[in-house]
Amino acid sequence: MIRGFLFDLDGVLTDTSEYHYLAWKRLADELGIPFNRQENEALRGVSRRESLLLLLKGRPASEEQMNAWMELKNQFYIQFIQQMTPTSLLPGARELLEELRQGGYLSAIVSSSKNTPLVLERLQIAPLFDAIVDGNTPVRSKPAPDLFLLAARKLSLLPAECVVVEDAAAGIDAGKAAGMRTIGLGPRERVGHADLVLPDLQQVHLAEILTRLG
Ligand code: BG6
Ligand code: MG
Repeated sequence: MIRGFLFDLDGVLTDTSEYHYLAWKRLADELGIPFNRQENEALRGVSRRESLLLLLKGRPASEEQMNAWMELKNQFYIQFIQQMTPTSLLPGARELLEELRQGGYLSAIVSSSKNTPLVLERLQIAPLFDAIVDGNTPVRSKPAPDLFLLAARKLSLLPAECVVVEDAAAGIDAGKAAGMRTIGLGPRERVGHADLVLPDLQQVHLAEILTRLG
C-alpha cells in the first residue's frame, strides 16, 4: 500500500534545473570546455562533485582547482536563486502536495542539493513536508538509494510504501535501487525506466497516480 511520496526538488517542484544548467554552462565557458544542454541531461540529479567530473570529461584537475570551480559554479547558481519567489513553484505542484496532505499521505523532499534549505526558503513550502533530506546529509548521493531510504526511515515507512517523484535518470535509478515505486517527469529518453512517466505535475491527481501505479 502506498503511504508516502518522496519528491525530488530541482526540476520537479521548481525549475532550478535550468539554473543549474546555466551555472555549469557559465563555468564551462570560462574554462573553455564545450558543454551543451544535451550533455547537461547526464548531470541532472547528480551531486555537485560528480557533475563537475562529468563536465571535465577526464581533463586533469587538482583537488584545489576542483573545489574552486565548484565554489564558482555555486556562486553563479545562487545568483539565479535570488530571483525565486513562492510563484516559482511549477504548475500543479502545490495542488498535488495539498491533495496528498488532505488524503492523509506523508510527503518528503529528497534532493541531492546542498542548497535545498535556500530554495525551500525562497519557495516557502517547507511546512508542506513531513521530512526533508538533502545533499548536506553525509550519505551517498543519487543514483545510490541512500537519500530515499533515509527519507523513508524519517517517515517511518517501508520502501514499498513510498513513491519517488523524479525528473532525473539518476533519481529514478536511486528510487528503484531503494525498492520504491517511481514516477518520472519528462521525456522517455531520460526517465522512461520509471514505473509511470508523465510530462510534469500539471493536472496530476492522486487518484490517477494510485490507479496507474496499480
Ligand atoms: C540536484 C540537481 O538536485 O542537486 C543537480 O539536479 C545538482 O543538478 C545537485 O548538481 C547538487 O546541487 P548543489 O546545489 O548541492 O550544487
Ligand atoms: Mg531533479
